[in-house]
Amino acid sequence: MKSLSSFLIVLAVLIGCSPKSTDVKEQTDPGPFLHGVASGDPLYDRVIIWTRVTPESPADSVVVFWEVSENQWFKSSLISGQVVTDAGRDFTVKVDVANLQSGTPYYYRFKSAGSFSPIGRTKTAAQNADSLRFAVVSCSNYEWGYFTAYQKIAEKELLDAVVHLGDYIYEYAPGGYGDTTIGRKHEPPHELLTLSDYRTRYAQYRSDPDLQAMHASHPFIAIWDDHEIANDVYTSGAQNHQANEGSFEERKRAAVQTYYEWMPIREADKLYRSFEFGELAELIMLDERLEGRTAPVASISDENFNSPDRSMLGADQLSWLKSTIEGSEARWKVIGNQVIFSDINQTMVFPDNPKNLDSWDGYPAEKKEVARFIKDFDNILWVTGDTHASWVMETIVADVSLAPLGVEFGTPSISSANYDEYSGLDTARMYENLFQNFNPHIKYANLTEHGYFLLTLQKERATARYYFVENIRVPNAAEGKPKEFWVNDGAPVIKQYNVYGF
Ligand SMILES: [Fe+2]
Repeated sequence: MKSLSSFLIVLAVLIGCSPKSTDVKEQTDPGPFLHGVASGDPLYDRVIIWTRVTPESPADSVVVFWEVSENQWFKSSLISGQVVTDAGRDFTVKVDVANLQSGTPYYYRFKSAGSFSPIGRTKTAAQNADSLRFAVVSCSNYEWGYFTAYQKIAEKELLDAVVHLGDYIYEYAPGGYGDTTIGRKHEPPHELLTLSDYRTRYAQYRSDPDLQAMHASHPFIAIWDDHEIANDVYTSGAQNHQANEGSFEERKRAAVQTYYEWMPIREADKLYRSFEFGELAELIMLDERLEGRTAPVASISDENFNSPDRSMLGADQLSWLKSTIEGSEARWKVIGNQVIFSDINQTMVFPDNPKNLDSWDGYPAEKKEVARFIKDFDNILWVTGDTHASWVMETIVADVSLAPLGVEFGTPSISSANYDEYSGLDTARMYENLFQNFNPHIKYANLTEHGYFLLTLQKERATARYYFVENIRVPNAAEGKPKEFWVNDGAPVIKQYNVYGF
């Protein structure tokens, strides 16, 4: 895990240094701001704003001005300042803007080398909202598809946050995961191993106009999954890290450093963290990869499968999770979760592999401990990434309770390959049926469509509205009619669902 001192964030607030609008060269000219702007980790009184400058010379250090306003014309900047960035942090810029009002929209921009950045829109965490709205996303593989789902999210009215559950990038060489036939070929043209490799890949992803638009439109709350480092990563290794690829620890450090450089997240020694939204919701973001995950086992008959020493979260994070839930006064406790928590019996789908050993089903001792703990709390809502499929489930953990312990909404991939794209449409449809027939708590499984869901939290109800993009292999495809599911306050049951005609 990185240390705070490894980052050069200069928060020198210099009121009076704000750029003048007459200095704007050309609003359509991105100047040195080729990777757009972003914001994230909203608190009641502060939010992170982010950008990157492309310097004339990599030896330079670059001064970047920033300003935040309540309106997009920046007639009067509420607060402004300047930071200095350099090659040590890949010319990224991150400012933790303080002294803001809760639940308030803000606009921000940067200026460097005589050019203004694009204008970003963001929002602080709402303390007294009647309703909160989040987009929930995961798994965006640049090579396999266009980020049209990000474009659609960018077009939505200002959200409380976009919650990204990981696989923001993929580490593979071109064609290493899917193919390159649509011409979006991974850079650098080999698997990511070094700091320079990871930085180049993030720069490529951030050159995507749909991803830039999404970041500029809403605050972001992100957690990594495995591919930000390497496939099926855990604290001391990964399925996609071999001995001839050098030191795993060095690779992990490079991946983590790049993540903190490029993502609009607050600097901290731990990635797991929580966000309060008044009495309505708390969003608890878990790190299920690098903090405490022990090595996977190869099968459920491994003698260590049920060992209490095997862990997804690690002791510190597990204890933090419990105390956070216990101390929360929020109605909805939303857990940002990388891999599926609810039981899934996949015996009929994959007879050789009756449990997904990379998910919580692969870490049964710790899963049971979490399940026993959450049994005493209402309104535990898991939002989950990772699977490249949509799931709407009641949270059954049969070893602990046959009654639901909450609900779980799994979000589809933005653009990473789905089951049908691996196995064909007929097979994927058969899988959907088998999953649902042998797991009655799964109320909806969709293994074939890409998109995201909007989560709306109100006192009486939590609603997940799933949106699907009709074709990710061409740019700017349409979004189909959404499907909507909800759960009522105090009743962890998907009571009704509709396929809307709107
Ligand atoms: Fe993924």
